[in-house]
Amino acid sequence: MPSPSPAGRAPDDRAFYITTPIFYVNDVPHIGHAYTEVAADVLARWHRQAGDDTWLLTGTDEHGQKILRTAVANETTPKAWADQLVENAWKPLLATIDIANDDFIRTTDERHEIAVARFLQKLYDDGHIYAGEYEGYYCVGCEEYKQADELVDGEGEFEGQKLCAIHSRPVEVLKEKNYFFRMSDFAKPLLDLYESQPDFVQPESVRNEIVQFVKHGLDDLSISRSTFDWGIKVPWDPTHVVYVWFDALLNYVSAIGYGIDSPEERAEFARRWPAHHLVGKDIARFHAVIWPAMLLAAGLPVPHRVFGHGWLLVGGEKMSKSKLTGIAPQQITEVFGSDAFRYYFLRAITFGQDGSFSWEDLSARYHAELANGFGNLASRVVAMVERYFDGTVPAVPADGWAPREQALVDAVARAAADADSAMGRFAIHEAIASVWTLVDDLNGYLTVAEPWQLAKDDARRAELEAVLAASVHVLGAVTVLLSPVMPKATARLWDALGGEGDIRDQDVRDPGAWRGSGRVSALEGTLFPRIEEADAGAA
Ligand code: MSP
Repeated sequence: MPSPSPAGRAPDDRAFYITTPIFYVNDVPHIGHAYTEVAADVLARWHRQAGDDTWLLTGTDEHGQKILRTAVANETTPKAWADQLVENAWKPLLATIDIANDDFIRTTDERHEIAVARFLQKLYDDGHIYAGEYEGYYCVGCEEYKQADELVDGEGEFEGQKLCAIHSRPVEVLKEKNYFFRMSDFAKPLLDLYESQPDFVQPESVRNEIVQFVKHGLDDLSISRSTFDWGIKVPWDPTHVVYVWFDALLNYVSAIGYGIDSPEERAEFARRWPAHHLVGKDIARFHAVIWPAMLLAAGLPVPHRVFGHGWLLVGGEKMSKSKLTGIAPQQITEVFGSDAFRYYFLRAITFGQDGSFSWEDLSARYHAELANGFGNLASRVVAMVERYFDGTVPAVPADGWAPREQALVDAVARAAADADSAMGRFAIHEAIASVWTLVDDLNGYLTVAEPWQLAKDDARRAELEAVLAASVHVLGAVTVLLSPVMPKATARLWDALGGEGDIRDQDVRDPGAWRGSGRVSALEGTLFPRIEEADAGAA
């Protein structure tokens, strides 16, 4: 039987192309950005380990007024500003949280600029773009044109001004000649899309919001600016630059060869596209309305899905640098490590809903679930094989497992199937919980089987062998299943268990198939050392 395919694709279509938003380089990353990265990376690692043809794309969004103004304020050019932030902050973020991306796109890459020009020219040639006059409001923080009902009245120092409801900063009044994309033509096709492909926008709460929004009809979209020049030039009118969101959304196709007309790039595009887009819910509208409208206009297939995850809240508010609630990912990884960072945010928060971050909760889960739950279990099993069998893993009983061991071993396939189905729905928290049933089962089993008592009685040697053979088997399977979430700790445990081959090649859809050398070796230190409160609190 072929494995169930994610998102209902044909079983022979093993392509899995997943993207993160490309991040603005006006500032350094915080844990909200890292959260999206980690979620996308766990999904990508899962699919890679399932043998799917996986591609993870991330990158940076470098044009537009926000970046230009930041560069000017820092007395440099926008390109120089972007270069140093990409090299000193955004690429290092990927190492900090252990992201195995396949590509990193910058909107200042030549391949991207060519693709944007080509795409725009096609829409223009096909009559989807016209020249007009824009008059209205613009929020530079959002890089978005605003409707009157998206604004609030300013108070205090902003008395008499209209403010962006998100940034609480005055919006700017624009009156300029712009090019417009005839987005209004696509309201009906988009509603048809949401209807015929109900899982196109997820989760349900975000989908409902998007459907309601489009049901009210769509305005045409201003897609160029002429009052500054930090952007990609409109090919037929170089006095204009392309609107930053129109430019940015195209990264998802420019990175896989859309701009280059060669057989190799055409094959690459056909192999990867369409994508699964992971975005914060605040930018779901750009991805679920503007982006598919653009693709429909260009005659390209729409994405498989747009998943809008929730916000990390600090003190009840969306965490953000501008509101001074920003926490740098290193503050957490330096104390708890990157595995714990990855595990915590994906386990503790229902993926798709908002979640509050607190140091106390992180520390409590780290100690209860990672140090005492999984880490201690791993150390105990390895230590017992060393102590009682000089490191040689006992063989599976010749006449097969007794019922108690059989039940433990059978749970592996069930947990893997549940986890795979949850990962297919992007219910990452649920997938981890399914795997964790095995950690709990194995801990419970050892408490009842008491191998340390069996070891005192030579007459019960066969029983002791069976208990440790089953324990190593299940622990190996858990290691395979947790590898996408905690790559570092699981790689160490894999070595200690004598796992054969690279852990990243072990099939998460059949984790019981793993094979070992038959020898364990000591785990250097513990997987998740206890952390003194002083260290956790200091961060
Ligand atoms: N540049 C655009 C995206 C263009 S994609 C074609 C952008 N960049 S961003 O840097 O501002 O944000 C990127 C992502 O980080 C968004 O998905 C956003 O929701 C996410 N987050 C920013 N703060 C967040 C939290 N506090 N919590 C969770 N995610 C958050 O928007």
